[in-house]
Amino acid sequence: MFNQRVMSGVQPTGHLHLGNYLGAIKNFTALQNTHECVFCIVDLHAITEYQSASTLHNNIFNVAATFIGCGIDFKNHMIFQQSQVSAHSELAWILDCTARIGWLNRMTQFKEKAGKNRENASVGLFNYPVLMSADILAYHASHVPVGEDQKQHLELTRDIAQKFNTDYGVDFFPLPEPVIMGEATRVMSLRDGTKKMSKSDVSDMSRINLTDSKDSIAQKIRKSKTDPYPLPEDKKDMLERAEATNLLSIYAALSDISIDTTINMFAGKPFSHFKSELTDLIIDKIVPIGDTIHALLKNKDYLENILNTGSEKARAIANPIVRKVHNIVGFRC
Ligand code: TYM
Repeated sequence: MFNQRVMSGVQPTGHLHLGNYLGAIKNFTALQNTHECVFCIVDLHAITEYQSASTLHNNIFNVAATFIGCGIDFKNHMIFQQSQVSAHSELAWILDCTARIGWLNRMTQFKEKAGKNRENASVGLFNYPVLMSADILAYHASHVPVGEDQKQHLELTRDIAQKFNTDYGVDFFPLPEPVIMGEATRVMSLRDGTKKMSKSDVSDMSRINLTDSKDSIAQKIRKSKTDPYPLPEDKKDMLERAEATNLLSIYAALSDISIDTTINMFAGKPFSHFKSELTDLIIDKIVPIGDTIHALLKNKDYLENILNTGSEKARAIANPIVRKVHNIVGFRC
């Protein structure tokens, strides 16, 4: 009954890193060969935690340039800015009235981000997953490529869609499938294999930014945390070795080979050998992306054009769907 449509979003909140690439953006580029794709720079989400207006403004361009640098085909698909398509916030309000407080109380990302001082977190941060559901449902998306950390938000989206359909006795929203694919769906910090690689980590040494230079990549991998043993012989040997597992998964995902093949390639070798191979691979795959990002950022008009065209295409899909939602809930249209 529904078309196959891919939708995903990335927050303009800082430098995008290898985790964003392997968990999400690399998979966007794979899916665009088989699906119609909608890729959104989620600036409304980005203000759930304060950043200055000028920083946000620059970060929007950064994400646009990164999408293109990673190979997103903006001509056949679309890249746009969430705040330029009002359907997102309109639908979010309606879905706020479907979502239950108890459901949102269970969201682990909110608990992590709000920390101990929950009373002081913005209402937007609490509400974040409902806006994300609106992003997805406004396009009747069938597939949503994301990293492992977003799985719970996708489950919530399905619950909201299901409840809306049941409450209003319609078969209107499809239940979107998360697409969590590749060998590195949760890339970990280079300094601590038990923590997620993150834009907000205070240590830049914890992540590979997509705009890092060759030297910086080499230094970060050389200094990345490991353990005193040779590389694992098999999967069993990887247990309790978070850093080895993380680096091997990065190697596998970047070279599009399975983790088993990667383990076999380096079994019993010293980390020094593996790190030098991994450095070459990351430089080979990431530095050209960084070069394109730097070049694109010099041409803001070009990026503005792409974003404006993208939002027109996005509005053409989302507005009629949200209009139907108005109808379903009984607003006079
Ligand atoms: P954001 O900007 O935090 O992350 C963007 C994407 O990168 C993935 N990711 C990772 N994957 C693997 N390892 C990591 N260390 C890592 N860090 C981040 C995230 O899972 C995500 O796929 N809430 C979304 C943004 C969003 C969205 C949407 C996504 C808003 N609306 C609609 C899909 C559909 C987020 O986490 O953004």
